[in-house]
Amino acid sequence: MKTTISQSPQFIEQTVTIGAWLANKRSSGKIAFLQLRDGTGFIQGVVVKNDVSEETFQLAKNMNQESSMYITGKIVEDNRSPFGYEMQVSNIELIHEANDYPITPKEHGTEFLMDHRHLWLRSKRQHAVMKIRNEIIRSTYQFFNDNGYVKIDPPILTGSSAEGTTELFHTKYFDEEAYLSQSGQLYMEAAAMAFGKVFSFGPTFRAEKSKTRRHLIEFWMIEPEMAFVDHNESLEIQEQYVSFVVQSVLENCKLELSVLERDTAKLEKIKAPFPRISYDHAIELLKEKGFDDIEWGEDFGAPHETAIAENFEQPVFITNYPAEIKAFYMKPDPDRSDVVLCADLIAPEGYGEIIGGSQRIDDLELMMERYEQHGLTGEAYEWYLELRKYGSVPHSGFGLGLERTVAWLSGVDHVRETIPFPRLLNRLYP
Ligand code: 4AD
Ligand code: MG
Repeated sequence: MKTTISQSPQFIEQTVTIGAWLANKRSSGKIAFLQLRDGTGFIQGVVVKNDVSEETFQLAKNMNQESSMYITGKIVEDNRSPFGYEMQVSNIELIHEANDYPITPKEHGTEFLMDHRHLWLRSKRQHAVMKIRNEIIRSTYQFFNDNGYVKIDPPILTGSSAEGTTELFHTKYFDEEAYLSQSGQLYMEAAAMAFGKVFSFGPTFRAEKSKTRRHLIEFWMIEPEMAFVDHNESLEIQEQYVSFVVQSVLENCKLELSVLERDTAKLEKIKAPFPRISYDHAIELLKEKGFDDIEWGEDFGAPHETAIAENFEQPVFITNYPAEIKAFYMKPDPDRSDVVLCADLIAPEGYGEIIGGSQRIDDLELMMERYEQHGLTGEAYEWYLELRKYGSVPHSGFGLGLERTVAWLSGVDHVRETIPFPRLLNRLYP
């Protein structure tokens, strides 16, 4: 019977065959312990000299790290293994002998590992992080599908910018100028007017010269957009969504969280509602905390966000930022036109902003005014204005950065480990 490591608990006391790689190995005169992986999980294979042919025992003893094989044996329960099971090996059929695998069980520097990212992905920690990423994606689809959203795919090649022009990747589009999308939002607004509640999930690009542990050049964003939903209603959706994802990861990634030694007590507390503080209040809080030089009207950097987040165990919404430092499409607060109906959601434990969202301007004249202030003239935006001409309604949306969310839930401190092949300021390889 051919099976996988993750399915093997269904075959206790039965003999199965698994296609696997050798992750690590230990042997003495009469016994060899093979640490096997097959992509679905890790399991130990025990090869006892007297129970197998001489050829199989020699193979087990001499096989190199990352050699591939079909391995056959009986699955038994084993309380000492973190997985709970092991295989009593009866036969090994070598598929490919690997030689001099560069990533050995000893410590390696980050740059070396990043240069070998195509291989590093096989290691236990990286495997755990990617499984958590996958669970965040899976539970995202579940949350939005269960709540009546339609998945819509905005284009990646665009003729206009959503978040300002300084961070755009330019490319030629035959005879025209095009950009790689930095957010699907503007298209998602069009989709919300057609389908009511929509969400997207796709890659976005920012030509930002930032070299921080929170910035990628290419990252993935989940962007829901909802017609007939105001700013406060949107915050409720955001906290429900984030709570659901956190609880799904806790429920379905127990092994991965333990491989990463993640303090899950902190994650167990993450449940809606989340606290909200205004930008004004955040400025006061920062001054109290000794950030003397921050002035009203300035944007927050990572140290500011971390200082604010320290006051809360839950993620915290910072709401109503000054209009000047936010995007052109955000709706001004009707009671105070110098601030906009927006919020950034700041994760606990110093992981920073994971969501940016807002209510959008739905009034045509105000939108045209904002266009002019931001110098956004030209036909690239005409279609977006038409959304305000034909049945405009109040609507809101937000974007969750996948990699920062993976970093937070996995407890890894740099986003470069949260995406299979990171694109960083100085890295396009592998
Ligand atoms: O705050 P941002 O720029 O918001 C938007 O793009 C909106 N148009 C979204 C919307 O309303 N539909 O980006 C949203 C999130 C941030 O909170 C952050 O988590 C992530 O995307 N993000 C990045 N993640 C990794 N590297 C970068 N360079 C990022 N820039 C933003
Ligand atoms: Mg933002």
